[in-house]
Amino acid sequence: MLAPLKNLLGNVTMYVALQKALGSDRLRYRCLAELDLRDGDTVIDVGCGPAYYFDRLPKVTYFGFDTSERYIAHATARYGSERATFSTEIFGERHLGVLPPADAVLLLGLLHHLSDEDSRALLRVASQALAPGGRVIAVDTCYAPGQGRISKWMSDNDRGEHVREPAAFEALARESFADVSGEVVDDAIRVPSSFWMMRMATPLHVPTA
Ligand SMILES: C[S@@+](CC[C@H](N)C(=O)[O-])C[C@H]1O[C@@H](n2cnc3c(N)ncnc32)[C@H](O)[C@@H]1O
Repeated sequence: MLAPLKNLLGNVTMYVALQKALGSDRLRYRCLAELDLRDGDTVIDVGCGPAYYFDRLPKVTYFGFDTSERYIAHATARYGSERATFSTEIFGERHLGVLPPADAVLLLGLLHHLSDEDSRALLRVASQALAPGGRVIAVDTCYAPGQGRISKWMSDNDRGEHVREPAAFEALARESFADVSGEVVDDAIRVPSSFWMMRMATPLHVPTA
């Protein structure tokens, strides 16, 4: 992505405004709808950014993680409460058993920023963080077979350095989940773009004691 645009997206207000202008918020809401969350559920959101979609959640207990101090400060000021905690810690094994088991883990726009190795580790810990029946949803810019020129340009110029084809995202998920399904979404936002929305359930690995 062009450096000036990258810098602008580090600005919280610009990031949220651009997401809404492009219609990327609708893609997030679609992911949330997939989860069918209920009051009282526990949600872990890794790479939550400013969590501008927080108000769309029912009355869940929410834990948001992001490496950006700016995003976390913004989210905390706006949504922090008894049931919403935001942290700049890297979500990992040390959080298992400390946080309550999650009914859902959100990875909205994260995996295409992570290397295969980091994605693998995160997906494994996400699988271990789930309550029985829990599920994970991810959505990422992807390279889709047959995508048009503008869509391809969008994928080439995404901020994420690990934009993949659906099969590559799916292969990573299958290392940690027995149930993986997904679809290319290319009608969600106002600019031609391709996203891979991926649902994951049924963890393959139990947490180590
Ligand atoms: C495309 S943004 C998505 C933010 C938010 N989920 C959304 O949908 O608007 C990706 C976010 O991942 C964060 N991030 C990158 N690497 C991370 C990591 N290892 N752990 C947590 N957050 C990370 C970035 O700071 C950024 O806020």
